[in-house]
Amino acid sequence: MIKICFVCLGNICRSPMAEFIFKYLVKKENLANKFFITSKGTSNEEQGNNMHPKTIKELEKHQIPYTSHYATQITRDDYEKYDYFICMDTYNYHNLNRIFKDDKNKIHKLLEFSDIDKDIADPWYTGNFDLTYIEIEEGLKNFLKYLKKHEL
Ligand code: 4NP
Repeated sequence: MIKICFVCLGNICRSPMAEFIFKYLVKKENLANKFFITSKGTSNEEQGNNMHPKTIKELEKHQIPYTSHYATQITRDDYEKYDYFICMDTYNYHNLNRIFKDDKNKIHKLLEFSDIDKDIADPWYTGNFDLTYIEIEEGLKNFLKYLKKHEL
């Protein structure tokens, strides 16, 4: 079982979008039973909230199934619970490296699996949820390719 936690700032836009797209991608490939997939935020700003309405709209637009969501802040004791922490941007990558020591090299940026040194722009600020979806989906496809090669 590969345990994956997607990480953004508020856990209402990018990381839950990644969580539900990735769940859909692995299900399509009959790999769902090999994964535990969730998402968390590095801030407590949105603690307990559902996904942003435009995140939900974007998932529906692409017919990605989703369940109820409860925004959750990541804590130090999460480190041992997951194999991969996949961060949406450099800011949260650094945040996470401050919270965890990462002696097992579990913290990554999503787009490093696409060999792109770029962040998933935060739609909370850009308002562009379409672009967020495109970039996340592309990053997740490459992340899954990486996992199939190295873990499965
Ligand atoms: P997310 O977007 O990190 O992709 O969930 C944000 C959501 C909320 C806030 C910032 C970013 N906020 O400042 O409350």
